[in-house]
Amino acid sequence: MRFFATTTPALSFVLALSLAGCSANNPQVQDTKQIQAPADKIIKADKFTHANYDKVRMTHLSLNLDVNFDEKVLDGTATINFKLVDPTATVLQLDTKDLTIRSVEGLGADGQWRGIDYTLGERDDVLGSKLTIPFREGMNKVRIDYRTSPKAEGLQWLSPAQTAGKKHPYLFSQAQALNARTMTPVQDTPAVRITYDATLRVPDGLLPLMSAEQGAMDENGEYHFKMPQPIPSYLLAIAVGDIKFKAINDHIGVYAESYILDAAAEEFSETPMMEVANTKLYGPYRWGRYDLIVLPPSFPFGGMENPRLSFMTPTLIAGDKSLTNVVAHELAHSWSGNLVTNSSWLDAWLNEGVTSYVENRVMEELYGEGRAVMEQVLALDDLMRDLRAAKRPALTHLKMPADLAHPDDAFTQITYAKGQFFLQFLEQRFGRDEFDAFLKKYFDDFAFQSLSTEEFIKYLHDELHVKNPDALTSAELKAWVYGPGLPDSFITPKSDAFAKVDAVREAWLGGAAAEETANWSTHEWLHFLNKMPVGLSEDQFERLDSAFKFTGMQNAEIAFAWYMQAIKGGYGAVDTQLENFLMSVGRGKFIYRLYAELAKRDEDTRTEAKRIYKNARPGYHPIAQRRIDAIFAKYAGG
Ligand code: BES
Ligand code: ZN
Repeated sequence: MRFFATTTPALSFVLALSLAGCSANNPQVQDTKQIQAPADKIIKADKFTHANYDKVRMTHLSLNLDVNFDEKVLDGTATINFKLVDPTATVLQLDTKDLTIRSVEGLGADGQWRGIDYTLGERDDVLGSKLTIPFREGMNKVRIDYRTSPKAEGLQWLSPAQTAGKKHPYLFSQAQALNARTMTPVQDTPAVRITYDATLRVPDGLLPLMSAEQGAMDENGEYHFKMPQPIPSYLLAIAVGDIKFKAINDHIGVYAESYILDAAAEEFSETPMMEVANTKLYGPYRWGRYDLIVLPPSFPFGGMENPRLSFMTPTLIAGDKSLTNVVAHELAHSWSGNLVTNSSWLDAWLNEGVTSYVENRVMEELYGEGRAVMEQVLALDDLMRDLRAAKRPALTHLKMPADLAHPDDAFTQITYAKGQFFLQFLEQRFGRDEFDAFLKKYFDDFAFQSLSTEEFIKYLHDELHVKNPDALTSAELKAWVYGPGLPDSFITPKSDAFAKVDAVREAWLGGAAAEETANWSTHEWLHFLNKMPVGLSEDQFERLDSAFKFTGMQNAEIAFAWYMQAIKGGYGAVDTQLENFLMSVGRGKFIYRLYAELAKRDEDTRTEAKRIYKNARPGYHPIAQRRIDAIFAKYAGG
């Protein structure tokens, strides 16, 4: 039986899927046909929002805010334009979390703002509080006077002492996945797209930036921003600090605190080549400028694809461009994610898996197949770990289960690496040229829209499979998307370079000196360390460390891999440097696993880890604090 063959049950499978997903589509808000579609045709598919976006949709957000470092709040107004999807709708429902709402007004047909009796619902730990705003017929604009909480999970406020320059405070946001609602009232779902503008007032000497066209300061000392392309709320972003700029070319550059500006511009100097490769494969870059900002080390992610301005961790500045796949990744989101978006976080693989695939294609284009395959093997190792750790099989499907507790749980290597390998599988079966043309058309056809897994599958069927019915079977497809683990049709990537590393490791374990490591890349070192057997002796740890100086190494990826081995092996000599690392780096990928490994080792180590965490915690991002609190909470009382 062939996948999608029209006379077999395969088709009904696919049709059932596509129908289930179809109505959840995000019509572009400008599309009046969609807007006026009968209400029963539009299903609310995102369960992580209070918004009634199946009835009323925001189209534009206009922010007017004071950035108040003394009180650690954003304070001002959010003006929201909306349109009816269901003509009988009478209330606009928005997401908020930990916001203080002072007043809500509506703009009447007579051009007058009038107060509205709104209701703010009870706070849900995940979703926050629903803001319900009744509106009169014909009304399409409301203005909300509000302020954020100093504890807003989407905002980190750093004191001057917590910055490199030590003179000025710093603020940066992280809206994905559910934290835009801690910054502003909004329909906080990837199914809804909005344009936005903002007016910001910041203390003297600080530069504000947003995920938008950067405006200069006007004569009143206010900064103005504009995002003319419709974006989902999770791409709202702001950074304020003593930030400087260095151009890489005429439309790409780097923002950073001055201590790291030159190094960052050098590290990321190949970003223009990445853009060229990406554009060649998948069509034009549609966002105007592409800048990067290197944030303070407490930024909890490797990178965040805020449009026009990717947010990056300083731990990428290794000095040898060996970690720039993260730049390729965030840039790739300008197609997969920012241009074509998952309509709910249960479909996160459409964002992250497709992006990981595109990232790897760009890396191959620039640096050759050898590096691309090494990165695939490293991703596979991480995937195997996450597959083993998964709490239930449904969490290893590409399509996340409907009862997922929090979107954070979707962002594992299942979503990233399994998603990437699924696209590699499709590429192998349909052929690279065919598949490239398919993806390029996909980005065009769904530009500035959001879609579900089921809509993707229907599109794959219509565009690719009908022309190549023998390329794959329905069972194979189903196993990838709705089945656990890695399906039988997965082809394991094999790296020749890593095979050589394996030989060096074996010889070293047998007592020989580790030869031929002089030209190793970061990737080879990671493979060398990650595949060390358990139970290395103290003497072996010492020999490794004295030969290769892992402890205290500047390259954060290698240092992290080493510290993980050291903790597992009980090698105490790294303690001081490990503590330094935990005190100075807030990137979750590293610190969550380091704390988890320390906590589970034994009670003494756990006590020591808690002591370090107590000191480090005030410097960590609220997102990281929540995650690490949860790690230690597992051991509460013991
Ligand atoms: N969009 C993600 C970061 C993210 C995911 C933030 C979920 C909040 C919730 C970003 O594009 C990403 O995937 N970053 C990775 C790097 C990438 C090379 C895998 C990271 O931060 O490690
Ligand atoms: Zn990503």
